[in-house]
Amino acid sequence: MVFTVYGEHWRKMRRIMTVPFFTNKVVGQYRFGWEDEAARVVDDVRKDPEAATEGIVLRRRLQLLMYNNMYRIMFDRRFETVDDPLFEKLKALNGERSKLAQSFDYNYGDFIPILRPFLRGYLRICREVKEKRIKLFKDYFVDERKKLASTRAMDNAGLKCAIDHILEAEKKGEINEDNVLYIVENINVAAIETTLWSIEWGLAELVNHPDIQQKLRHELDTILGPGVQVTEPDIQKLPYLQAVVKETLRLRMAIPLLVPHMNLNDAKLGGYDIPAESRILVNAWWLANNPAHWKDPEEFRPERFLEEEAKVEASGNDFRYIPFGVGRRSCPGIILALPILGITIGRLVQNFELSPPPGQSKIDTSEKGGQFSLHILKHSTIVAKPRVV
Ligand code: HEM
Repeated sequence: MVFTVYGEHWRKMRRIMTVPFFTNKVVGQYRFGWEDEAARVVDDVRKDPEAATEGIVLRRRLQLLMYNNMYRIMFDRRFETVDDPLFEKLKALNGERSKLAQSFDYNYGDFIPILRPFLRGYLRICREVKEKRIKLFKDYFVDERKKLASTRAMDNAGLKCAIDHILEAEKKGEINEDNVLYIVENINVAAIETTLWSIEWGLAELVNHPDIQQKLRHELDTILGPGVQVTEPDIQKLPYLQAVVKETLRLRMAIPLLVPHMNLNDAKLGGYDIPAESRILVNAWWLANNPAHWKDPEEFRPERFLEEEAKVEASGNDFRYIPFGVGRRSCPGIILALPILGITIGRLVQNFELSPPPGQSKIDTSEKGGQFSLHILKHSTIVAKPRVV
């Protein structure tokens, strides 16, 4: 769906994906799973003596959390540890895809046709990686679920997982097997990495701003009570936690240019003629970081969302702030991403004092950007000292 041209096919895919992924019912059904995954991260980090002294690369464990959050929704499955061989295979292949997508190689060919012949090697690798990934999704996940479904009722007391809904649409002839596999593919790309980058950025900013981290911890302790673990419904009672998430998505916007759009018809914009079928990139990062429209935009200051920008939401009610896009092609995953970010960041701050490794006053927040992402350059080592509450 992500790269589909606007039209009938896109409309159908978006409709078919809505019930299994993008409703409040899905949030109500899976939030216990997200809370459980966050609790398991807390347990694992507590058990690791290195975490409290030298520090650990927290992202490694959070990647497992994000895969599990989404694979529970898709397939009612999770991976037990970061060393699970199937998880490693999946992660490696998705990682290869991500590197290829972040390369600017394919753009040369799009914009300078004479360079296209030099792209052949790159495109061949893209095709190979795609085929390997699709085969993995089919053999290990979709076919497995089909096998399970043929041996027992899959409705888990009326609660189907996403792939059951999608396979039902295939059975009805609304979509074909390729469409099913590309839905799985899309979720792997659109949901897991984006949310993981944002969690990673949020934690990095909290490590480098101990005063903000402490203020957030204070909110959690006072509103929930010491030691009471944050859950999804609590988030609406925690304005500072919400502001930390919003500020992370503003300053460290995961998809800074959104996904390329295309105008179907000739258009005029700001006095310019835009021919039909142009590729339109929206610089959403600049909209949210332009000093003409934001006070000290280079500063990580969640308070702005409680003070001068209190009315601004991530859902696109203000065109200066559209980390999930806006309008019909905006991100439907916002309904899942915001609670997952709140639960995960909230639990870590409740349970640990997060700081840079010994001898460092800050962690390195250099950025690495591709057309489709703005992520942290180095996965930082973070000291996570368990709190006694
Ligand atoms: C912090 C996390 C996330 C961010 C920042 C994010 C951001 C975005 C952005 C900017 C777009 C393109 C909007 C546009 O071009 O106008 C998009 C599209 C999309 N996102 Fe997300 N996303 C996140 C999480 C998720 C999750 C968790 C899912 C699924 C479970 C998801 C599924 C999708 C899909 C399917 C599209 C394509 C929509 C369409 O073309 O109609 N995203 N996302």
